Amino acid sequence: MNKSDLSNNSLSSSFSDPLTIAKNPVIPSKRNMPNNVQLVKEILELKQEKNAVILAHNYQIPEVQDIADFTGDSLGLSLEAAKTTADLIVFCGVYFMAETAAILSPEKRVLIPDKNAGCSLASSITAQQLRSWKSEHPNSIVVSYVNTTAAVKAESDYCCTSTNAVKIVESIPEKHQILFLPDMFLGTYVQKITGRKNILVWWGECHVHAAIGSKEISKARHNHPKAKFLIHPECGCINSAMYLTSEKDPSTTNGKILSTGNMEKYVRESQSTEFVVATENGMLHPLRKKNPGKTFYPISDQSVCEFMKMTNLEKLRNSLRENIFEVKVPERIAKQARIPLERMLAIK
Ligand code: 13P
Ligand code: SF4
Repeated sequence: MNKSDLSNNSLSSSFSDPLTIAKNPVIPSKRNMPNNVQLVKEILELKQEKNAVILAHNYQIPEVQDIADFTGDSLGLSLEAAKTTADLIVFCGVYFMAETAAILSPEKRVLIPDKNAGCSLASSITAQQLRSWKSEHPNSIVVSYVNTTAAVKAESDYCCTSTNAVKIVESIPEKHQILFLPDMFLGTYVQKITGRKNILVWWGECHVHAAIGSKEISKARHNHPKAKFLIHPECGCINSAMYLTSEKDPSTTNGKILSTGNMEKYVRESQSTEFVVATENGMLHPLRKKNPGKTFYPISDQSVCEFMKMTNLEKLRNSLRENIFEVKVPERIAKQARIPLERMLAIK
């Protein structure tokens, strides 16, 4: 598979092309916005009235994270969606995450405050492209990162997140060839950690993490020589970053490759007080909030996901008030997509 194969990607959902939005993000105007105190009050009242739960990804803007019932990484939020007793789930994240919640909780209504919140990584492979990849490699096991559309999940055998990708791959007997998609950096990381030779990796990438390269890592190492490095496995620097985590040379063991949820856990348990965070910059908010005695530096001011920043308090209020935008996955697709998700949740 080469990169030019990805140029014809099209989204199976009805929202706008995420790559186009990435270049032309819609920044909400600060003028005419109701003040936050009023919005927070309205959101809390509506939430109670509708027996709703608000889930927010770690990359959401601080105000949205602060009003959410649960914040976390993709895996943590999927687990909350699966076990909630609320009637309504408002998912403050990107579209594939809300779709995952709808697949796991078919009896609940799932809303996303902005239906244009896509994901460049999820749109790097379509169900049709996966079907033809599978036909080139019959009898392979398909492991799909959760950053995929429902239609792609429906064509998969297992789902995984950045927290459990290694564990999921290790649970599959060695005799099976694996098709891992869609993130090439996470896939390369899983190949190296598991040592498996029979993993084929799709050439997809997240535009935010792919831009975090070894140049950014070297600059941050120079500026913050005492800091620990927290590196998301979707980052473009992942191959060169692995030397930072190498056990062979103690002078370079100041890096950790972690999902956003595991970054939180690692910082909480670490004796270190300075950290460079190599992922989307929304992650700095929960880290700073939960660890006031520690210092966090973003790897780059450019590491911002426009899709994650589309949600704000006003859209969240409108979503609860007007029941918009409902995320529905056709039952035929949801039924198939539930299988790889439930296999993943069973492995934990
Ligand atoms: P996490 O699973 O680590 O939360 O990552 C989700 C994501 O979209 C990364 O860009
Ligand atoms: Fe998708 Fe990248 Fe944004 Fe995560 S940071 S939601 S992978 S575009």
